[in-house]
Amino acid sequence: MSLSSACAESIQRDVGLAERTWFGLGGSARYFCVPNSRDQLIDVLRWASEQELAVRVLGRGANVLVSDGGFDGLVIRLEHDVFSQSTYQGTRVRVGGGANLMIVARDCAKRGLSGLERLAGIPATVGGAVAMNAGGRYGEISDVIESVELMDRDGVVRHVAADAMGFGYRHSDVGDRIVLSAALRLTDAPADEVVDRFQAIWREKSQSQPFAEHCAGCMFKNPPGHSAGKLIDDAGLKGSSVGKARVSRRHANFILADRGATAADVLALADRVRDEIFARTGLKLEREIDVW
Ligand code: EPU
Repeated sequence: MSLSSACAESIQRDVGLAERTWFGLGGSARYFCVPNSRDQLIDVLRWASEQELAVRVLGRGANVLVSDGGFDGLVIRLEHDVFSQSTYQGTRVRVGGGANLMIVARDCAKRGLSGLERLAGIPATVGGAVAMNAGGRYGEISDVIESVELMDRDGVVRHVAADAMGFGYRHSDVGDRIVLSAALRLTDAPADEVVDRFQAIWREKSQSQPFAEHCAGCMFKNPPGHSAGKLIDDAGLKGSSVGKARVSRRHANFILADRGATAADVLALADRVRDEIFARTGLKLEREIDVW
């Protein structure tokens, strides 16, 4: 299949991903596209599947490590307005998959809608947060989801109820489908209280985590009943390094990429940490971040 000329124009070649991810490193995407409509998204997906290209959706790049050789496929960003609109109807909100989760959470708080403020400080798009069921100490996005609108690789759109989404700890069954939007069910509460809670949770997170550095949130999932950060800290691994990658002294489950770090440095350090924790405790740390 050949692409319509509008779609062909929308696809860029060899686009650097370092500046689009929080780690700030890694190579380029062979193809990169910001579709401006659902039809264009369908066209591009069909083309990619005919070319047998791997496809990834890039959200705010806060949970992704791009390998040094780059990504040999198509990277899609849903940053066009058509994918980031929100509609409010009482305590029900429909939010676009490309919307910035923090902006949506803040807007909900100001409207006196409670539920999303517990995710304060998670730098994600709505779609990225749904795909990995993002969350923290105060809850997960699945707590407020009623249904998710998903597009598969053939462009077929389905609304899937939350209980059929396979939500678990940092997990969903989104798989290779694209989150077009999510329907949320929030609760009414005094706006000033929700805003205060939002700010307090954000403050707490920014005090305990190294926000200002190049990293991708927590490197490992917490093994059941344990905190990966505490295990790594107890093993004395804070500050240990490979090349220009090092374990944060503020929170041991964060690997920081200093200037000049490569993805290989980060992965080698993550492997070393995983092996040391296994040798000490018998617990297997599983990576939380996505490696492209
Ligand atoms: N701790 C240490 N040393 C450290 C880090 C933590 O001793 O270097 C201790 C803390 O003092 C605390 C316990 O470990 O007693 C748990 O730490 P924290 O409250 O920071 O929570 P966490 O389990 O490490 C989880 C999520 C975070 C989320 C926070 C807060 C995971 C893997 N991590 O961290 O999510 O922000 O709770 O809600 O589930 C992420 O997923 O990327 C992420 C940052």
